Amino acid sequence: MSGYISNDTRKVTTHRLWEMKQRGEKISMLTAYDYTMARLVDEAGMDVILVGDSASNVMAGNVTTLPITLDQMIYHGKSVVRGVKRALVVVDMPFGTYQGNPYVGLDSAIRIMKESHADAIKLEGGEEFIETVKLIIAAGIPVMGHLGLMPQSINKYGTYTVRAKEDKEADKLIKDAHLLQEAGCFGLVLEKIPASLAGRVASELEIPVIGIGAGGQVDGQVLVAQDMLGMNDGFTPRFLRKYADLHTVITGALANYIKDIKTGDFPNEKEQY
Ligand code: KIV
Repeated sequence: MSGYISNDTRKVTTHRLWEMKQRGEKISMLTAYDYTMARLVDEAGMDVILVGDSASNVMAGNVTTLPITLDQMIYHGKSVVRGVKRALVVVDMPFGTYQGNPYVGLDSAIRIMKESHADAIKLEGGEEFIETVKLIIAAGIPVMGHLGLMPQSINKYGTYTVRAKEDKEADKLIKDAHLLQEAGCFGLVLEKIPASLAGRVASELEIPVIGIGAGGQVDGQVLVAQDMLGMNDGFTPRFLRKYADLHTVITGALANYIKDIKTGDFPNEKEQY
């Protein structure tokens, strides 16, 4: 194993993420939605596992993250937690479970923590939801913020292109980032914004800032596991680095399996009772 993989088998906590930022150690974060993938990601030494609402796209084939429900997120969260020993597990609050009354948001966060046994929740947005964030943190639930491209607002934006290129949106993002830190968030995800803006936010904040499509001047990186493993060959945004071509590996293995069945090669004498 590479020297970049930590030998420290202690459970990752929000405080340890903060310490990593203080000593300049980059934080690794990846999504998982199920037990088998969560075990692999945890055994590889990932610091944070995100049970993202991208499960709506990746697991269920929806066009957006909007349809996934609280019950479905809890199901994914529970499955992931069962496979994890070391990583901090963060579960996304799905669309419609916190944007209204802050007490509804609190109830949703409590359900996620009580039923999935995850370590923290993540939600999208800044100033508009700051009372909700404070209420959830006051209940003892660690909260991670998410600014920049916020996929739950796709119907407002109308596009998944880079956010905060204009000064007005960039200024609001910086203000929101500070508000989220002041409210007590333990970390912040910045999605698809200019690298210089993300770097500025990371240098101004004391809490770890994790980027996706936000350049290298932040405190860590997050990607969707199926994307970086090359399982979705049609998805090739500029920010994505593919670490494997599992689309080719899996379809090749499946084709061999079909061939072996059709030719009668599988099962052989050793593969039967
Ligand atoms: O749902 C998700 O996978 C996310 C990441 C893209 C950060 O929020």
